[in-house]
Amino acid sequence: MISPNTIQEILNRIDIIDVVGGFVKLKRRGANYLGLCPFHNEKSPSFTVSPAKEIYKCFGCGRSGNTISFIMEHEKYSYVDALKWLANKYGIEIEETFASDEQREQQQAAGSLFIINSFAQQFFTKILFESEEGQDIGLSYLKERGFRDDVIVKFQLGYSPEQRDAFTKEALAKQFNRDLLLKTGLIANRNDQLVDNYRGRIIFPVHNHSGKILGFGARILKSNDKAPKYINTPENEIYVKSKILYGSWFARQAIDKADECLLVEGYTDVISLHQAGIENVVASGGTSLTQDQLRIVKKYTNNLTIIYDGDAAGIKAALRGLDMALEESLNVKLVLIPDKEDPDSYVNKLGANSFKEFIQKNKKDFVLFQLEVALTDAAGDSTKKAEVVNQVAETISKINKTEDFTRQQDYIRQCSEILKIDEGGLHALVNKFIRNRISTQEKALPFEEAKLLEENAGKAAATDYNDTTFNLLFKDELQEREFARILLEHGNKKWNTDQLIANYIFSEIMDESLFDNPEIIKLVTIYKEALLRQDTQKTDKSFFIYHPDTSVSALAVSLLNFPYDESDHWKREFSQSTGYQKKLFEKSYEDFMRTITQEKEDVLMSYSKMDEDRTPAEIESAINYFKLRKVKRMLLENQHDMEKPHTAQEFETLHRTHEHLKNMERDIVQKAGTVIIK
Ligand code: UTP
Ligand code: MN
Repeated sequence: MISPNTIQEILNRIDIIDVVGGFVKLKRRGANYLGLCPFHNEKSPSFTVSPAKEIYKCFGCGRSGNTISFIMEHEKYSYVDALKWLANKYGIEIEETFASDEQREQQQAAGSLFIINSFAQQFFTKILFESEEGQDIGLSYLKERGFRDDVIVKFQLGYSPEQRDAFTKEALAKQFNRDLLLKTGLIANRNDQLVDNYRGRIIFPVHNHSGKILGFGARILKSNDKAPKYINTPENEIYVKSKILYGSWFARQAIDKADECLLVEGYTDVISLHQAGIENVVASGGTSLTQDQLRIVKKYTNNLTIIYDGDAAGIKAALRGLDMALEESLNVKLVLIPDKEDPDSYVNKLGANSFKEFIQKNKKDFVLFQLEVALTDAAGDSTKKAEVVNQVAETISKINKTEDFTRQQDYIRQCSEILKIDEGGLHALVNKFIRNRISTQEKALPFEEAKLLEENAGKAAATDYNDTTFNLLFKDELQEREFARILLEHGNKKWNTDQLIANYIFSEIMDESLFDNPEIIKLVTIYKEALLRQDTQKTDKSFFIYHPDTSVSALAVSLLNFPYDESDHWKREFSQSTGYQKKLFEKSYEDFMRTITQEKEDVLMSYSKMDEDRTPAEIESAINYFKLRKVKRMLLENQHDMEKPHTAQEFETLHRTHEHLKNMERDIVQKAGTVIIK
């Protein structure tokens, strides 16, 4: 772990214009900088960087973040790697803290494994290109398959000679540690003798997201051998198969640009597609996709296109993992390659252009494709069809994140059309699956989380064909965000002589249970704690923008986005105009009349706009909203109690409470009516 001191030092040094400007050509536009977005293809610039707020946002593709998240997104680095990159840029020495000796050892082992792998790759590549055996056997095989020199070099392919200990000798001469050498799987122990594990094979190095070598796949050359076709690196500190996507290092920028990731099965598929100029491609390594692999894809794009063999096994392999992909909010498309071909052979057969065309033409939506396959299977059998309906409802129920609401609705509509069943019926069935799953999960969860899920389930139920309910829910979300934004943007300023705006807000709204969004609750709680400790550094918005918990920093960035720049604009003009006024007093009236231009008139106009600063109104409006929410919830609870059996006296109390709450509700609405001026 990087020490807090180092992190602080890095944060102090960061200059967003300098960092982003290293990747994107930026031009100054008023207070901001503008450039062509590095995350999607565009002709006119919509990528905006604010040096004052230390954030960026692209108005074309919507990506936004801080300096660290820019490096993370652009270079596909982890948080720690991004910090290391920045430290390196600014010449800051990194001080590391280790949680335990065990962790330190693991980190050191991992470092050594990378070093050995890099050494091995250079060894195998050298053999491939420079030795007689490498050229005659390895290189000629690759050429025969049509691989060009430049891609062989780019993917750092190599060849391991037949000799039983060629690599072992070199590695031992280098004095690499025996145990570590065994861990890499490059060397094996046979009867107390160290020998090469890969012999007479083509070597495919497997790179991680930043280009370091995690391990190798070694392909046999003779086809009718009893030996396995590929020998892969065994699991170790750095080679964790379930977390590896072959080719991600070479594909990352192309995936960003295309906003799509193609997924194939094997090493050779990735390399052949690259050679054909299709670079946004990774491979799963012949097994079905894992959740971790899907999350890696998700870091790059929401659009996953799976290209698999069209035989029955290929279809099955492709369909596995589908539900998980939906849970990860990925848009999954499927392309089946004709039987007996794979992407490697097919792109070689068709050529780059026709292959691209083929992919475009044959992309099928995953959910709908699965439905079609199942329906063909069920053909005319009504019991089987009922099963299909259930299956598709369960699949759709997995698309259940708030942001995926519209997608879920679309699927319900399309699937009910294909199935020729009532849309409402399918909708109800989907919701049933959501509720069932939640109640089983709930049993296994601690109370707080269970409560949260229950509320989500309530939402799912409430959305049954009811757009108004949805709008209300959505509005709540906006109001919560508005509240958090006000806190970040204005909390540190004075409300009156005695207190800060944040103090005032919290004195009015003390109850966090009024918030639904767990991330907003987290942010508000962090803020409140810092406020109590009077730690003004930690109530500053930049503290949140650079918060190490990425869910907090992402929220802060999205809250402080550019639409609110208007008020900044005023402030800037305001400070200019006061200076301008000062100058006015030093000048004669005639001078004044001569120099005044339309532009300056505008500046003075915006000065007068400052007088009607909307901040207090915004604060009052946000507070009223939550008061109203609280009263509404109390009303609901009271109504619940009224429905239970009770004595006459209890009824009296309940009734009075109801009246009282109704009055409060009316008051707030009235007050809000005068304050909310939008
Ligand atoms: P394939 O058999 O399709 O191999 O397995 P390939 O990559 O297309 O190689 P060529 O074109 O026949 O030369 C697909 C992937 O499954 C894994 C590898 O990752 C391979 O790329 N695999 C396959 C293994 O790990 N071990 C094996 O024995 C076979
Ligand atoms: Mn192949």
